Amino acid sequence: MPNYGDPRYWDERYKQQNQTTFDWLENYHTLRPLLTHLMDKQHKILNIGCGNAELTEDMYDDGFKQIWNMDISDVVIDQMRMRNLHRPEMKWETGDCLKMDYEDDFFDVVIDKSRFTYNYRYSRCNTVWR
Ligand SMILES: C[S@@+](CC[C@H](N)C(=O)[O-])C[C@H]1O[C@@H](n2cnc3c(N)ncnc32)[C@H](O)[C@@H]1O
Repeated sequence: MPNYGDPRYWDERYKQQNQTTFDWLENYHTLRPLLTHLMDKQHKILNIGCGNAELTEDMYDDGFKQIWNMDISDVVIDQMRMRNLHRPEMKWETGDCLKMDYEDDFFDVVIDKSRFTYNYRYSRCNTVWR
């Protein structure tokens, strides 16, 4: 089984997938009813393990402008930053969501779509919860 917790695995995968996007499991079309019900367009949103999913772009175009996208792979963050230069308020950061140093309550919402299953050390969930 690949080592899904290793950033090198994802870097290699995203190098091969350059210029493409892929939404694991769900996309904004399927999640929109839930997200618009739960969230405010003014919310500060952290999208951990964003990958190259279109979710964040579709959310942005629908009015959610304050989205911080984070991934452990700097390859995909660079690709997505370039791809979204015309969406100037979007933020892209390389980082490990299990070692974040944002101040408490900085974000209103954390989105974790299909990332959790790849870091299944439940004891560390409180790092994200903060
Ligand atoms: C299965 S992909 C899901 C991508 C996207 N969220 C989606 O739903 O299509 C998992 C993503 O989580 C990222 N990832 C894995 N461990 C991570 C960690 N500790 N911190 C941040 N991102 C991580 C990987 O680089 C990968 O892009």
